[in-house]
Amino acid sequence: MSVSTVSTNPLKVAVLVSGSGSNLQVLIDAMQAGSLPIEIVGVISNVKDAYAVTRAQQAGIATAVFSHITEGENAGKRMGIKTFERHASAQLNDWQPDLVVLAGFMRVLSDDFISSSPAPMINLHPSLLPKYKGLDTHQRVLQSSDVHHGCSVHVVTAELDAGQVLTQAMLAVDHSESAQALQARVQKLEHQVLPWTILLIAHGVLDIKATNEQTAATAYLPELPLKLWLDS
Ligand code: GRF
Repeated sequence: MSVSTVSTNPLKVAVLVSGSGSNLQVLIDAMQAGSLPIEIVGVISNVKDAYAVTRAQQAGIATAVFSHITEGENAGKRMGIKTFERHASAQLNDWQPDLVVLAGFMRVLSDDFISSSPAPMINLHPSLLPKYKGLDTHQRVLQSSDVHHGCSVHVVTAELDAGQVLTQAMLAVDHSESAQALQARVQKLEHQVLPWTILLIAHGVLDIKATNEQTAATAYLPELPLKLWLDS
């Protein structure tokens, strides 16, 4: 018996990064393997030496670096977020993605930038939102008595980590483990939940414009967020 697949144009994805880019690598690998119907049209980094940029370059993907630390005569001064956004906006308008993915992007973006984006934006966050918005999520979970932890993919809105949560992956917290060990376990979940979410978007199962308006994604899905239980 054969199962027929729906052939669609690849979803054009731009990825914003600041760090090692392990999540970006998962997307690159899935794209190259043909298991995710996406074309990564470009990667924007706000950190010059981010390994994510090297990963993109090694895969032949266009990159743009708008470093938040300036060089030359203004060396060491921070690039204001408005300047970063002006450059990033022009670059996104040039690439014309269908979706913008924040994968380990560590700056807070303004309402103007988000609302003028050429495509909807999603963010990967290392907690079970709405719990633990912001930074140091793993340490904060270990200081709590929470039984579960995990990661979320949500729609980006002006309010930090507060947009509609689309998907989550969960694990059981071991309160004797270190924050680093917990982070490593959550990162394994991220590497599964991010491509899964993008697959659902690419196939039109998750309709981000609809979820952005806080309406149901589709008539047949369970209520959002969709949850994966991926204990390890
Ligand atoms: C991830 O753990 C994500 O949750 C957080 O930043 C990290 C990025 O990791 N926002 P990587 O750069 O994809 O390896």
